[in-house]
Amino acid sequence: MKKTLALALALAMALGLTACGGGDKPQQPSTGSNPGTSANQPSTGGDAAPVANKDKPLVWFNRQPSNSSTGELDMDALNFNGDTYYVGFDANQGAELQGQMILDYITANIDTIDRNGDGIIGYVLAIGDIGHNDSIARTRGVRKALDTAVEENGVIKSDAVGVNADGKASAVKDGKLTIGGKEYTVRELASQEMKNSAGATWDAGTAGNTISTWVSTFSDQIDIVASNNDGMGMAMFNAWSKENKVPTFGYDANSDAVAAIADGYGGTISQHADVQAYLTLRVLRNALDGVDIDTGIGTADDAGNVLSSDVYKYVDAERSYYALNVAVTAENYQNFLDATVPYAPVANQLSQDTHPTKNVWLNIYNAADNFLSATYQPLLQNYDDILNLNVEYIGGDGQTEGNITNRLGNPSQYDAFAINMVKTDNSAAYTSLLNQ
Ligand code: BGC
Ligand code: CA
Repeated sequence: MKKTLALALALAMALGLTACGGGDKPQQPSTGSNPGTSANQPSTGGDAAPVANKDKPLVWFNRQPSNSSTGELDMDALNFNGDTYYVGFDANQGAELQGQMILDYITANIDTIDRNGDGIIGYVLAIGDIGHNDSIARTRGVRKALDTAVEENGVIKSDAVGVNADGKASAVKDGKLTIGGKEYTVRELASQEMKNSAGATWDAGTAGNTISTWVSTFSDQIDIVASNNDGMGMAMFNAWSKENKVPTFGYDANSDAVAAIADGYGGTISQHADVQAYLTLRVLRNALDGVDIDTGIGTADDAGNVLSSDVYKYVDAERSYYALNVAVTAENYQNFLDATVPYAPVANQLSQDTHPTKNVWLNIYNAADNFLSATYQPLLQNYDDILNLNVEYIGGDGQTEGNITNRLGNPSQYDAFAINMVKTDNSAAYTSLLNQ
């Protein structure tokens, strides 16, 4: 046994050295540099030494470990061990796109956009989670593009305004847009964090109710409905804007939202969930295989899977992979109708011989979240087959970490972990279980 252990260690080191050595390896695109490699022992591999839970591959996804007040990244969580990564999408690039998409719509429809003809283009905004960096970025992106942003210490305020009938709210200002040589005023009439009474954020039901309240206050002053995501956007569209032909803009490119573009939904942003779901499982696969982390990502794997630099970037200092976003509008929505299809360049089946089945524990923070349950999880379920991963999916209640961590009773049963926290500050609720 001792000898086997020594051999295994020697092998692991040798693999690590081969993969890490040499400065001529393919580099990640843009900011990327090579994050390195490791070799894990299979937990089921006969007499190989079991890997301690704290040393198993760990990927955070969709909610980046960070301080929910300041946005500062939680580098301890991101460096939990040498095989820890975050997978998400480029929040700022996506937020800019969302703002631009709405501005383009206004520009193209300037003759009809002002429903009551009072010279003010009014919009309402559904906010997902005031402490979530993706939600904050989207609120800022819309305000920036529509010139309603107010800066404080160099950053755009992202607070909800509640109602802002007179344009005097301190978190926003009345914007000025010059279109076709004419100046228009833009006002954020109302915005609110869509949190339900039990505490779940990004809550579509709350958004569906809130639009009715807003309409009773503002009626035809509302020219545009904007939302931090499609779940809330579609709830508002179905409750009011579809019938009243008021363009509504969301984020995520869920299949139902893309289909609704044919019925007047204004547009959405694809955060390339097909690439993110792949990366989420791929980084685990690579760590478990003991190969360079770039395998099947920036460098083609043995099945031909590879991503091009226009769909993702890797930021080494943040240990984070970010998918890039694409606007989905009336012009191109036909190409996005099914959000659950694997991305073709990385849809090639891995061989069982070289990539034997491994067990992964994965949670979705809120089983009722539209994006995660209707788009992300179905994609993960396609990729887990392709990557030979046996994934146990745990759906949380969106409110408490304990509801999820309770279901990680025996981490030793799994070879790797994929975690979607309820609150971005709460990484320790999970890592403490792996450190035991
Ligand atoms: C998605 C939202 C989702 C949230 C959950 C975001 O990236 O766009 O739809 O509710 O993640 O954390
Ligand atoms: Ca108006």
